[in-house]
Amino acid sequence: MANARQRLDRFISASSQIPRGDVRKLVAARRITVDGDFACDAGLLVDYFSHITLDSKTLQRNTRRYYLLHKPAGVVSATTDEIHPTVIDLLRTSGVSDCALKDLHIAGRLDRSSTGLLLLTNDGEWSKKMTAPDKNISKVYQVTVEKPINHDYIEAFRDGMFFPYEGITTKPAQLEIIDTYSARVTLMEGKYHQIKRMFGRFRNPVLKLHRIGIGTIELDSTLESGQFRELTQNEVRLTNSC
Ligand code: URA
Repeated sequence: MANARQRLDRFISASSQIPRGDVRKLVAARRITVDGDFACDAGLLVDYFSHITLDSKTLQRNTRRYYLLHKPAGVVSATTDEIHPTVIDLLRTSGVSDCALKDLHIAGRLDRSSTGLLLLTNDGEWSKKMTAPDKNISKVYQVTVEKPINHDYIEAFRDGMFFPYEGITTKPAQLEIIDTYSARVTLMEGKYHQIKRMFGRFRNPVLKLHRIGIGTIELDSTLESGQFRELTQNEVRLTNSC
């Protein structure tokens, strides 16, 4: 969900049923404000986060929200699901209001069985930056597998693997062996079931997959599984400049 921009007269006309031609007169009469200043042009571009008033009455006010969740296994990275609990259900039962949950979406999903760092936001531009493959934002995972890992894995992950279904080759990924059955994997992209499929090339099933970092944001060690917190301004900003 990108924060689409639109002309002020279009927004006012849609939200107040005032003909677009009349919005110009309201602007001239200094009856409309955008982000605290009188609008001076009916063609001004506004978006979902522009605070817009008409005769001091708020027509739109949305706050940017960013959450970091320690996702437990068994919870679906989706806003709705008919069978399983979703991360939105989890936030709701943890006390986040329906109003704050309204436009949240997930910036980089995890499989239902995967755990760890999950980001949610209502800021479409930010989530787009976090997930766009050309932005090269790293995603770091701790992986536990069924069979021993050897040095061939390091090369194979670095060289990339061809996924015939999508017709793509994965970008160079870093695999560091932690011990016989576990590794730390850093991806610069997020293809469907990517890590499971990459270990699948070695016929080595993934038993546990836990995300610990996205870009400059790390999973907070004080957060128990199922807990969340808001991102700090610094975390939002640092990741914005990646
Ligand atoms: N790769 C996977 O296979 N699953 C995830 O949840 C994340 C990355």
